[in-house]
Amino acid sequence: MTRRINKAVFPVAGLGTRTLPATKALAKEMLTLVDRPVIQHAVEEALSAGITELIFVTAESKQIIRDHFRPNRKLEQELARRGKQELLERVKNIPPPGVACHDVIQQEPLGLGHAVLCARALVGDEPFAVLLPDDLVHHPETTCLQQMMEVYRDRNSSVVAVENVAREQVSRYGIVETAAAPDGAKRMKSIVEKPVPEDAPSTLAVVGRYIFTPSIMPLLETTPRGAGNEIQLTDAIAALLGKEDVYLCEFQGRRYDCGSILGYMKANVEYALRHETIGSEFGTYLDDLVSKLRD
Ligand code: UTP
Repeated sequence: MTRRINKAVFPVAGLGTRTLPATKALAKEMLTLVDRPVIQHAVEEALSAGITELIFVTAESKQIIRDHFRPNRKLEQELARRGKQELLERVKNIPPPGVACHDVIQQEPLGLGHAVLCARALVGDEPFAVLLPDDLVHHPETTCLQQMMEVYRDRNSSVVAVENVAREQVSRYGIVETAAAPDGAKRMKSIVEKPVPEDAPSTLAVVGRYIFTPSIMPLLETTPRGAGNEIQLTDAIAALLGKEDVYLCEFQGRRYDCGSILGYMKANVEYALRHETIGSEFGTYLDDLVSKLRD
């Protein structure tokens, strides 16, 4: 029997240098994707997969993320007074009833592995999910984390989301070597952080979604600083492979890198086109714009 996964960790303490100067004072996770901040899209994905406890690993300067997921009584009272019932419901539902939010401060940006380790006391001895809000994945029916949960339930093991990337891009990602597993599943054989294209064991890149068994935390505790003098999650996953199987989820869906300006702009356009109230009008506007630019 697999243990149910209730908790998701959101490491959001990074500096966000790629989105400067937009993120000089504003946390990059609070940049707006159409009508809600990027972090809310990631949280909604977690909720879609049955998560009931959200754990934000934040920096001291990112109070705004915690505020977004706390009740804002003054705003609620004002919306109620003005009779804006629909808006009131939407605001009150961040997060929905029954969902708990916790946060822990990462005092120094010592790397993604260190950020996940900061959540250890809040996670406890349970399997848990990790979502990096920089990576957003759209699928019209089954979210990326839902797809990963299916693999987790089948295999009762840690699961990492992977995507094929162009060989010249492998040096931006953790890259995995695969081993076949029963029923056509793929297991991770090895993992290497940001290899040069000639040395990459494949073009399967780890993107920002993970499900871990509790074994990862003690391994993170003893992971020395690696590439960039940071405690790398990749190094702890490599150590986990020595103890347990780790499965891969080649998810269906379109991924957007919201941690870069170009990826963020693409996401804004495509999420706007799919948006239930503005999508159709925005599509007409884009069509007109493109034909004007062509003339
Ligand atoms: P990135 O490698 O994208 O780093 O982190 P970054 O600092 O956020 O952004 P750039 O590259 O300077 O623009 C991947 C994820 O890990 C978190 C980040 O917030 C992001 O969600 N992270 C990274 C931490 O929480 N703490 C760290 O020390 C490092």
